[in-house]
Amino acid sequence: MSTRSIRLRVKRQAAANSAPYWEEFEVPYKPQHNVISVLMEIRRNPVTRDGKATTPVVWEASCLEEVCGACTMVINGQVRQACTALIDQLEQPITLEPMTKFPTVRDLAVDRSRMFEALKRVRAWIPIDGTYDLGPGPRLSPETQEFGYLLSRCMTCGCCLEVCPQVTPTSAFMGAAAISQVRLFNMHPIGRMNARERLYALMGEGGLADCANAQNCVHACPKEIPLTESIAAMGREMTRHMLKRLLGG
Ligand code: SF4
Ligand code: SF4
Ligand code: FES
Repeated sequence: MSTRSIRLRVKRQAAANSAPYWEEFEVPYKPQHNVISVLMEIRRNPVTRDGKATTPVVWEASCLEEVCGACTMVINGQVRQACTALIDQLEQPITLEPMTKFPTVRDLAVDRSRMFEALKRVRAWIPIDGTYDLGPGPRLSPETQEFGYLLSRCMTCGCCLEVCPQVTPTSAFMGAAAISQVRLFNMHPIGRMNARERLYALMGEGGLADCANAQNCVHACPKEIPLTESIAAMGREMTRHMLKRLLGG
């Protein structure tokens, strides 16, 4: 029988406004474990390393394949998805903490509403009337499709906000993800019809002007979205738009 084990230190918090505390857990080693599967083991038997019965650790997860972003947390000091954090690649004891830029709901679950509110603010969708057949959509070159696909891989996980010095629990800055989504929807032939409204949202409070160009976001994005390129591209689009307005265009 294997004597190896997996040790975890989990930062816990019973409710949004209660004080955080740490608990340590130890589960038997199994190959192929990831952070979520270990948290599931703990949920089956919520006992701390020193044998004290406790409440099951709360976390969020859905897709289990790095597509939904729900399981994002800070693992050994690095913000990433728990479902793809393989135990064999992590130093032990493994430290799990909730992201810090979002309100904690409980334990490792946070409320990422600010990201979804930002997407609403920039109108990150293509308004089409789905009540009747609109016929085939506009044709896109393979290059445009490919680039659009890259930008569309954003899963609103929050990694880029977590590492951004301009995002704080109280700042209004929308963060790089929403800015990059403006680029995606403004480059689409139908989305382009509402490009101006999206640009106005970027010019408003908490918009692009709050970015300090620290570039942490692009390094943290698990989907390798060229966030700083998107920020620069949207900056240029805003400038063009303002010049056009000045010249009466
Ligand atoms: S470039 Fe820097 S300041 Fe701007 S969104 Fe990225 S991390 Fe934040
Ligand atoms: S841009 Fe990248 S890091 Fe930011 S929310 Fe989207 S997937 Fe996550
Ligand atoms: S559970 Fe969806 S990204 Fe991890």
